[in-house]
This record gives sequence, C-alpha cells and structure tokens, in this order.
Amino acid sequence: MLRMSLLPPGLPGPYKRVMSRSESTRHRPAWFFREYEPVGIDLGSAAAVAAYDRNQGTDPDADDTLLDRLGVVAGTRLVDLACGTGSLVVQAAARGAEAHGVDVSAEMLAFAQARAERAGATAHWHRAGFLDYAHQAGPADVVTTKSALHQLPDFWKQQALINAAGILRPGGTFYLWDVIFSFPPADAAGHLQRWLDTAGRPEGRGFTRADFEAHVREEFSTYAWILEGMLHRAGFDIISRASRTPTHGEFLCRRR
Ligand SMILES: C[S@@+](CC[C@H](N)C(=O)[O-])C[C@H]1O[C@@H](n2cnc3c(N)ncnc32)[C@H](O)[C@@H]1O
Repeated sequence: MLRMSLLPPGLPGPYKRVMSRSESTRHRPAWFFREYEPVGIDLGSAAAVAAYDRNQGTDPDADDTLLDRLGVVAGTRLVDLACGTGSLVVQAAARGAEAHGVDVSAEMLAFAQARAERAGATAHWHRAGFLDYAHQAGPADVVTTKSALHQLPDFWKQQALINAAGILRPGGTFYLWDVIFSFPPADAAGHLQRWLDTAGRPEGRGFTRADFEAHVREEFSTYAWILEGMLHRAGFDIISRASRTPTHGEFLCRRR
C-alpha cells in the first residue's frame, strides 16, 4: 500500500495558526495540485461564507446524529477535513472530543472559529488542505469529510484518502459524504438532469440551479465504484455505503 506523501520532506506543518497562502504553498513542486485555489462557489469573503453557511443549511442536530453514529464521545480525537464553517467540529468539541477542523480557506476558518467561540467550545483549527495537512496530534479515532472531496480530481482524491488513512489509528473510523454518483454511467445525462431540475432554490434561499450546474461542469464528483477502489487502496475496509439519491452518498470505513 502506498503510504508516502507526495510532498517533499521538510515541509512546515501542521498549520495550527492561520498562514498566508504563499507561506503554505512555497515549498511545493510546480506539478503539485493547487488546492488553495478551490473550484466551485466563491468563498473569498466573510459575506460569501455567511451565505454559504445559510445555503448549506447547517444543522447542529444533524451533526450530533452523525457524531452519535460515529461513536464520538468525550476524549475522542476527531479530524474534519475541509471543515468549512465548522459546525461538525464545534458539536464534537461541545461533547468533549478533541476536535480538529482543517480547511484551505482562511475565511471559512474565521467563521468556524467565531462559531466555536459563540458555543463556548474549544477546538483546534488548521489552515491546510487534504493534500498537505500534516497531523501532529496523536493518531485520530475518527476522520470525517463532508461535501468536499469532489474539490479534487481523481488522482488527487486518492492521495487525499491516503493522507486521511495516515491520520487515523488502525481500526479508526473514516466517514465520507459527498456528491457521489451511483447511477449507471450510460444513464448519466438523465440522472444529472433530474437532480438539476429539483435541487435548485430561488436566489437567496439556498443553492441555485446555476450552482449545481457549475458543480457538474467544473468540479470533480465521481462514481461510487471509483471511490470504492480508492478507499480500498488507501487502506480502508468499507463498513457500509449508502446512496441517498443517485447523486449523493456516503461511505463509512475502518482503517485496516
Ligand atoms: C462545500 S464546502 C463543505 C464544508 C463542510 N465540510 C460542510 O459540510 O459544510 C467545501 C469546503 O472545502 C474546502 N476545501 C476546498 N478544497 C480543499 C482542500 N483541498 N483541502 C481542504 N479543504 C478544501 C473549502 O474551503 C470549503 O470550506
């Protein structure tokens, strides 16, 4: 199993403080994926992040349900990769977990930190990406990532999953939720059209049809059967998989 990082040795890191992008990227080879230039919805301002949080329908109760499912209790070490506005991390911290939120976006992390302060919860925030997060706390019990792995093309998804496995202790839990396609490839157009016809909300009341169209056109969502192979090669056993719809799904995995 490939366990090595694609990053050259001697990189700085874990990023326990908010770093500038130039500081975080200056040691990278020219061919390295530019994960600090994410695709998709613009999240480059506090207003855009606040709109994202509203549109995403952040729901602490749903976060708590997921944390219960994953067995997160006081003392659990949890890392949420691409944590966004941080609700899952804050809910984990509120129940006494050692909760780490990792994201490439300084604006998202600022929103997440403010959410933690409002909740009186202590969490650890790292400005870092799937590909360059260097975990320096002890091995994690649980690693999660929701609605974000699609930011990476498939070659880089595999590297991200190898990194996620490297953060976890053997037997630790990995949870992945995303736009994941489970329809037959030959039927893609019809399934995507049905999703786009039903998912969009009016401007200001959620993600719009144009947002979802841009997702399909510009982001890197992939098939469940491709992710299954990647998860296996990264060192995970798949405990369960579920497709809520032909376009969205989850994997619950255990690190071998
Ligand atoms: C659609 S949001 C999802 C946020 C959160 N997980 C949620 O469920 O609401 C995608 C997040 O991924 C982050 N992101 C994009 N590329 C990333 C990367 N390579 N590494 C870490 N975070 C990344 C973005 O900054 C953004 O916060």
